[in-house]
Amino acid sequence: MERSKNPVGRTTYWMVDPARPDPGIMARAGLILRQGGLVAFPTETVYGLGANALDALAVVRIFEAKGRPQDNPLIVHVADRETVNRLARRVPAGAGRLMDVFWPGPLTLVLPAAPVVPRQVTAGLDSVGIRMPGHPVALALIAAAGVPVAAPSANLSGRPSPTTAGHVLQDLDGRIEAILDGGPAGVGLESTVLDLTGDVPVILRPGGITREELEKVIGEVRVDPGIDGVPGCGSPAGEFRPRSPGMKYRHYAPRAPLVLVEGEPERVVARLKELAGGYRSRGLRVGVLATAETARECQEDRVVVAGSRQDPAGIASRLFAALRRFDELGVDIILAEGIEPRGLGLAVMNRLRRAAGNRIERV
Ligand code: TXA
Ligand code: MG
Repeated sequence: MERSKNPVGRTTYWMVDPARPDPGIMARAGLILRQGGLVAFPTETVYGLGANALDALAVVRIFEAKGRPQDNPLIVHVADRETVNRLARRVPAGAGRLMDVFWPGPLTLVLPAAPVVPRQVTAGLDSVGIRMPGHPVALALIAAAGVPVAAPSANLSGRPSPTTAGHVLQDLDGRIEAILDGGPAGVGLESTVLDLTGDVPVILRPGGITREELEKVIGEVRVDPGIDGVPGCGSPAGEFRPRSPGMKYRHYAPRAPLVLVEGEPERVVARLKELAGGYRSRGLRVGVLATAETARECQEDRVVVAGSRQDPAGIASRLFAALRRFDELGVDIILAEGIEPRGLGLAVMNRLRRAAGNRIERV
């Protein structure tokens, strides 16, 4: 098959109506994927950067375009359940039940990989992460391509994941063949990555489907102690060994350093004010990422409101855009308010802790 001739150059931009994806556009985007090109597309979680998952050379280009470390495996996106049986060596019974309930949707299942999956996708692991996205444009693209689609989030490695086509262009314009703009992503945080290769299912990355929701369907689910990726967050310093390779890199980071303050809301608010005052008096431009409840009490000029404490789903949907907003505001330091790590709050706190690196205060 003819390969894409223009690996880097002009990025074709297509606006697509999620309610009625234009078949002509989807066919052209699918052809780019079949020919080894890269297409960014909306999913219900964040925008993905797609390549033909069965084409090792195309997959390598994803790593180049993003500047992604080679040892971080990619999720393979499918539009039907039969393809799962081709990609996985074995599909445990629990996986079937989870697919029945949560697919299409923000849940990635890590299963034993079949030999057909290139090692560039699995980063040499013997497992593969598979998910059926719940966005009509993503499903139409995979169907048009006629191949499973490997896709990480469509950001430069280390940057906050993109929840709009604009975010994707900020990072990848000119580095990929095409982008499908289907409007803002709904969930706003990536899928939950659930490892089903052992006796007990383990959450390797909290995301759009909560632990509580999973446990209702398959019983006990553990959370990998390494998820937050920084010493002191569930794993003693120096002993951090994540099972999901992606979890060991600093991630989701705006340009300015981010300090995360966690704990009882009143103490958090008091500490945020204290820190803000201190930095301001040293002449720094301070940005604050706060809940609606706290924002009312903040005097800083550059406050970005993530949403109400009562509504972690709202916070999740705005989080990455908020982190990128601080780049535009040109702040020197970002102070972020932690929320309760329960339900979707667990995924929100995971992304904030990873954006903070080791700058986390518990009060
Ligand atoms: O919502 C999402 O999952 C988005 C959209 C585009 O689908 N994709 C996404 O991909 O977030 P990415 O590459 O940014 O994150 C994939 C995560 C990484 O932490 C990676 O280490 C983990 O999934 N992962 C993938 N395959 C794995 C495997 N076989 N074993 C363990 N972890 C795996
Ligand atoms: Mg990512």
